[in-house]
Amino acid sequence: MSDLLPLDSEFAPIEAPTLRGRVEARHDAEEVFDALASDLMGQALHCVGKYGEFHLALSGGKTPFPFYEKLMIDPRFRAIPWASTHLWMVDERRIGFDNDLNNYKHINEILVEHSGIPAENVHPMPVEDATPDVTYERALREALGRRPQMQQRLDFVLLGMGDNGHTASLFPHTQVLKVRDRMVGLCEGPTVTPPPRITLTYPTLNAARFIAVLVMGAAKGPMLKRVASAKDTYEELPILGIEPIGGDMRWYLDRAACDAAR
Ligand code: 6PG
Repeated sequence: MSDLLPLDSEFAPIEAPTLRGRVEARHDAEEVFDALASDLMGQALHCVGKYGEFHLALSGGKTPFPFYEKLMIDPRFRAIPWASTHLWMVDERRIGFDNDLNNYKHINEILVEHSGIPAENVHPMPVEDATPDVTYERALREALGRRPQMQQRLDFVLLGMGDNGHTASLFPHTQVLKVRDRMVGLCEGPTVTPPPRITLTYPTLNAARFIAVLVMGAAKGPMLKRVASAKDTYEELPILGIEPIGGDMRWYLDRAACDAAR
């Protein structure tokens, strides 16, 4: 068989790194997005069926934007119950909503404006507030506090991973990594790509019912390899601090990232 199938063939099996949780490795971006969208839709339908609403927190960066487009245009994902969804931000840059660096600006244009999520269910981070972390935490506690006791958590969190091992706006060696008693924190300092950030904290992310981590492209391979070796601390590589408490964790990787992680 191996004589007939060169190892670098696009049909050769993908060798995925071993990571905490489950790994979904696919050939290309389209297949990765399909797997992620199916899981998101399944979780959303389950949560709306069971609890009447779905609390979804999305990341920015760049990788997920074409995924959000797919959610809007691919008819296979039309059943996502947007009318019963609450949309939260995983993190945000403290910069105006009209600035291209603002995550919500893009999420609003790509998804919010076309999804039919009720306006009162959309929760951008209050970037111009003097204490945006306090304000956002209050909003989260109010919304999640209306749910039954064991369900007071986000249902689905979509994370990415930077090539320095950060996730959300949890950057290496920052104070916010130590926060255990707050749902939202601020992040700035020499290791943070400016501008300063607002971010969900470990306790909020780790409590989620489902944590999806989307990582694609060869440039992320070396960091994936380091994460898989688990030799660093979470202070060095904040993605290592993502440890679900009773929820599911699933990585969505493309072949390029997997190959470069070998
Ligand atoms: C952000 C993020 C951030 C992102 C990573 C990876 O706002 O920048 O939420 O944590 O997920 O930087 O971004 P990419 O997937 O675009 O490389």
